[in-house]
Amino acid sequence: MKIAPGDLTQFTIPSNNSRLCVGVERLDNAGTPEKPSDGSNSPPTVDDIPVALRETPDLPSKPRTNVALLVGSLTALGLVALAAGGFVALRMQRSQTVTLATENPTSVAQTSPTALPSASPADTLLNHFAYTEAPQAELAPIVPDGSIKMRQAAAKAYREMTAAAQQEGVSLVPISGFRSLADQKYLYFDVKADRNQDATERAKVSAPPGYSEHHTGYAVDIGDGNTPALNLNPDFDKSAAYRWLKANANRYSFELSFPKNNRQGVSYEPWHWRFAGDIQSLKTFYKARGQK
Ligand code: DAL
Ligand code: ZN
Repeated sequence: MKIAPGDLTQFTIPSNNSRLCVGVERLDNAGTPEKPSDGSNSPPTVDDIPVALRETPDLPSKPRTNVALLVGSLTALGLVALAAGGFVALRMQRSQTVTLATENPTSVAQTSPTALPSASPADTLLNHFAYTEAPQAELAPIVPDGSIKMRQAAAKAYREMTAAAQQEGVSLVPISGFRSLADQKYLYFDVKADRNQDATERAKVSAPPGYSEHHTGYAVDIGDGNTPALNLNPDFDKSAAYRWLKANANRYSFELSFPKNNRQGVSYEPWHWRFAGDIQSLKTFYKARGQK
């Protein structure tokens, strides 16, 4: 049996117990006819006697009183029994309800309107996850001319990381940060046509618009200022910049999105790093993907 919180109201004291309380009150009066307030043996009050008895023809006073008393007492006893039975049944029902609600919280949670819905399957296309564009107001520049931007928290971490690398003689150069849907449309469809690629082939190196991590403002393609020939090339992993990133990027909450043999089936991109250093970026990249 599943119990929803609303079911409890069926068993609340006020709705049923108002009748029960009246019954008990009346039975208290009717159940003690031998002890009326004036101390006499007078019959119970009219309210406690069935109408049929009230219309009984006149009889000699004493026997009539005795019969009335007997009938009244039996009636009262019956009512007491009925009320007691009802009260016990009500208590049992309430007790069972409370027990089920406390011992089986799962049942309550499953039927509660406030229960969280289970995570829906991730929206993917050609092995890429769907992302929405970061609001312009949340972007900050990562180059002096402002042409490359990232989401503010990511931009701050990126600048700190670049400065730290510079201290060690390593030149990290940003190539691409936030990208709009229009930017990605060009990179996916126009370049695909230019290179005569089919949709699947193109998706191995470029996400369809609406499915790029670059939309989030958390992703950045990084090159090496000292060996530009390796930029955006799998051999970038032979650069000093990559080696430095591999050893230090986690300190700044950057991680490689597409390592070799990644689960998404996207080509190895040693230059593509994403920021996962606050709750929003974590949710963006990990929630609803079945990843822990
Ligand atoms: N190059 C990556 C997959 C992108 O286009 O988002
Ligand atoms: Zn990228």
